[in-house]
Amino acid sequence: MLLREIKNIFHLELDAIYGKDEVNSFFYLLIEHYFDLERFVLAMQPELVIDKEQETVIFQALSKLKLEKPIQHIIGTAYFMGLDFKVNKHVLIPRPETEELVRWILDDVKDVKQLLTILDMGTGSGCIPISLDKNLTNAKVFGLDISTDALKVADENNALLNAGVKFFEANMLSLDAETSAKELSQKFDIIISNPPYVRELEKEEMQNNVIEHEPSLALFVPDEDPLKFYSAVVNFAADHLNEDGCLYLEINQYLGEETMNLLEESNFKTIELRKDMFGNDRMIKGIKK
Ligand SMILES: C[S@@+](CC[C@H](N)C(=O)[O-])C[C@H]1O[C@@H](n2cnc3c(N)ncnc32)[C@H](O)[C@@H]1O
Repeated sequence: MLLREIKNIFHLELDAIYGKDEVNSFFYLLIEHYFDLERFVLAMQPELVIDKEQETVIFQALSKLKLEKPIQHIIGTAYFMGLDFKVNKHVLIPRPETEELVRWILDDVKDVKQLLTILDMGTGSGCIPISLDKNLTNAKVFGLDISTDALKVADENNALLNAGVKFFEANMLSLDAETSAKELSQKFDIIISNPPYVRELEKEEMQNNVIEHEPSLALFVPDEDPLKFYSAVVNFAADHLNEDGCLYLEINQYLGEETMNLLEESNFKTIELRKDMFGNDRMIKGIKK
């Protein structure tokens, strides 16, 4: 079958769900992933034919897209900070907003020469600590998560990407009470967290493919206590950051002020709120007094 005929079928079947532009990018991502064909191939070779086996593969992907399975789950990887991270149903798919948080940190420490100890709380695929580790030669980086399945993915990414992050299974809501790992009772220079922050009441704003295919454990918090993870992380950071150590948080866009108040109450200074590329309040930094 001609590759361009398949592209037309993709548009016929999927445009109503995703829109033309997104279907275009899915199609090109798939032919690159499965057949190693670059996106300009159709412009150069409009009569390009793919064989039966390739047809089966691409039509299977089309069926999954029709069921609104995320493209990253279909190809098994997500691109983050220039790296390919393995993902599956047990981890949140890394988001571009989170890249902005990582870039903020990298920018802040670019002139620092001394060794930095860094902890990521609620690490999922490990995208935050692994990309920090890959970009910093002077850092010892740790990550923790409550999910054994997520940590398997993080460990795999650590090995696949040749990074040196050390991961722990731990509950960030009861960290001081339960942890016996001495690495987690040390003081850090930087603590980061992108914890669950979507309230149940915000579910209707979300796309089906997120609600149905990404882990609830990574996403949702109760309406009556939406900042429970932030209180725990801020308290932990107040005790476990070195003087002038920094806390970086990805936040719920509707709760910027309330989250900043938590840092103020715990004696953080120079608290800064930043918007993401979509213009939403999305990240906070605070320095320990
Ligand atoms: C929003 S996801 C962030 C994942 C990853 N850091 C990222 O930015 O893509 C939140 C993560 O927190 C983890 N988590 C949920 N409850 C937790 C708890 N009580 N203690 C530790 N981790 C928890 C989830 O398993 C999930 O991996």
